[in-house]
Amino acid sequence: MKGESKLNNVVIGVVGGLGHIGLIQSACLAGLGYNTIAYDIDKEKIAGVLNGKLPFEEAGLQKLVRETVNDGLLKITAQIDDLEEAEIVFICVGTPSLSNGEADLSQVYQAVEQMARNRNRHCLAVIKSTVPVGASAKLTAHLKKLNLSNKVTMVSNPEFLREGSGVEDFWNPARIVVGSEIKEAGEKVAGLYAPDGVPVIITSWESSELIKLASNAFLSTKISFINEISILCEQVGADVRTISKGIGLDPRINPHFLAAGVGFSGPCLEKDLQSLIDQFKKTNQKARILESVLEVNETLRHSVVEKLLAELGRLKDKNIAVLGMAFKEETDDVRQSHSLPIVQNLISQGAMVTVTDPWVKSPEQAGLSEDVLPGVTWVDSPYAAAKDKDAILILTAWQEYRDLDLARIKQLMANPLIVDGRNLFNKDDLKAQEIKYQGVGI
Ligand code: UDX
Repeated sequence: MKGESKLNNVVIGVVGGLGHIGLIQSACLAGLGYNTIAYDIDKEKIAGVLNGKLPFEEAGLQKLVRETVNDGLLKITAQIDDLEEAEIVFICVGTPSLSNGEADLSQVYQAVEQMARNRNRHCLAVIKSTVPVGASAKLTAHLKKLNLSNKVTMVSNPEFLREGSGVEDFWNPARIVVGSEIKEAGEKVAGLYAPDGVPVIITSWESSELIKLASNAFLSTKISFINEISILCEQVGADVRTISKGIGLDPRINPHFLAAGVGFSGPCLEKDLQSLIDQFKKTNQKARILESVLEVNETLRHSVVEKLLAELGRLKDKNIAVLGMAFKEETDDVRQSHSLPIVQNLISQGAMVTVTDPWVKSPEQAGLSEDVLPGVTWVDSPYAAAKDKDAILILTAWQEYRDLDLARIKQLMANPLIVDGRNLFNKDDLKAQEIKYQGVGI
């Protein structure tokens, strides 16, 4: 969808313009009709994008980038000076975790400072990166110390995009959240792209920053809650999928994010939870619920390996096929994917592991160095993976795996055993094929 730009003639800049959030933000704003300048330091990535090769898979993004570049609305540059004409500049750089769980803001500070130093006109610097509470205030104080605060006014505007459906989420936001000390600045940012009828919250920097972290923490809490319930289901013979359905029908609970399995992973939820817990610690407060959410997630993650061990008696020299390396379906992203520590666990117990994923074909494509998953074989189909195996372990809920030809799988395997970390199947279908099957909480 391409919309009407609400604020005519506003030129917009995006720093970290070719990152996951930055490119979606840049292309969609250009799609709304704004002259948008995506600035990125990675010249190789820029060349790739201008030749139609995006750095990651994202539904609808390739077409949108092509169209907006061709229309002259989206400009991609490695020249920071090109941002001079932008009066609103989104900061979309990464905020990875430090070893203590604290968010590393060095890229944000560098981006804002470099941007302020290399411009003459004033602009709004809009933080879209996920940052700890207080970051906008600290950045403002930092710029003041550098006598750069006349160039830049900080605004917080967290994103809630999900990987795999980021473009769709941009066009259909559940809400727009803006944090600003200056009301007009907040309204200007919200007015840029708030579709009619979408709730807009304009609040303080701190509340805006915390809405983001608390939203992700609550999603994680729902997943760990249903995963904890799944543990009891296995003890008492209940089916967690029916429990999710039953409790999810209550509109106060709703059915979303109640799919039990090997837990949440990926570049956001875990990192943001650790950052939030770190902020509790820094204020000498206890994050009892949040720490338990992480602990339950870690437990469920490795419970599938325990199930394999219980079924096979040992893992040493056992041939195991792992289906799914991406942290979730419809993405090729393995950053902080649950599949990495689970496969490492199997390797550490002496298993011979073969992995496959519809969108992640090799360790190189996944950006994994040899030592991350040593000795693992990568194949390009679940059937090739199943051949002569003692067990299959399903870790990502790809549709392709839901549609598996179970009779063919049975024929290929040395020992018909499936441990399913995503509850993709109906138990009776496996029984009919005489395949031993274990899910999570079913
Ligand atoms: C998340 C938030 O959803 C998004 O709003 C925020 O902006 C960024 O972080 P994303 O990381 O793309 O988005 O993944 P999401 O779709 O939330 O899934 C996160 C993890 O939870 C995945 O590993 C997924 O498999 C798992 N999950 C999700 C469950 O285990 N059960 C569920 O019911 C839902």
